[in-house]
Amino acid sequence: MKATWPYPQLIAHRLGGALAPENTLAGLALAARLGCRAVEFDVMLSSDGVPLVIHDETLERTTNGKGQVNLRTAAQLRQLDAGARHHPAFAGQRIPTFVEVLQACADLGILPNVEIKPASGFDVETAEAVVRVIADAWRGKTLPLVSSFSYRSLETVRDIAPHLPLALEVVQVPDDWREQLAALDCVGFHASAKDNSIDVLGKCRRHGLPMAIWTVNDWAEAEALYAAGIDAVFSDRPDLFPGI
Ligand code: G3P
Ligand code: MG
Repeated sequence: MKATWPYPQLIAHRLGGALAPENTLAGLALAARLGCRAVEFDVMLSSDGVPLVIHDETLERTTNGKGQVNLRTAAQLRQLDAGARHHPAFAGQRIPTFVEVLQACADLGILPNVEIKPASGFDVETAEAVVRVIADAWRGKTLPLVSSFSYRSLETVRDIAPHLPLALEVVQVPDDWREQLAALDCVGFHASAKDNSIDVLGKCRRHGLPMAIWTVNDWAEAEALYAAGIDAVFSDRPDLFPGI
């Protein structure tokens, strides 16, 4: 049977949010120190098929590299600096491998929300790699929640690893959201705070599945979402959520 919804009300976005470089082990360490019990991060493949934790399809915004992530080998990507763009104090941070992040989450007792973030055209391969690595490397008690904007990636996970809990991600809630969640056998539904009214999100929650909403960096906004029945928010500012 699939896991029920085990998530706390706060999920640190991109491993640690905005107080450290996104999707780095330094961010994860900070999230742990702030008391976060769950983190979200993005997984993409290198050209040689290694799943790494990075958000953009290109390297410029978060690293000292240039060009497409999926045109570089893992060895090339691992030489890049993924910390100094955020602040020189974080120089030396690397793009973490998915395996490293899963192992660190298990060691810290933190629940992972693995977002499959395929480079264009790699929806199936990225999903397959995510499933493989979870099977080989995850040692935590509760299974990681696997989410994606890619319907194709989620279909792939559903078909090859039906035990893994899935969440569909959407920017704006589509008219056929219930049909999509049912077809993918999801346990959760993630949507954007900016692109949907609290009213719409609350209605979806009342008629559907547990929902996690991104990106909420303001406590009053989080309180309004929780009051509307929303189960969790992704935040870049986990320091503003004391005690959850
Ligand atoms: O999973 C929630 C959130 O991470 C989705 O947006 O672009 O930050 O991956 P993005
Ligand atoms: Mg993400």
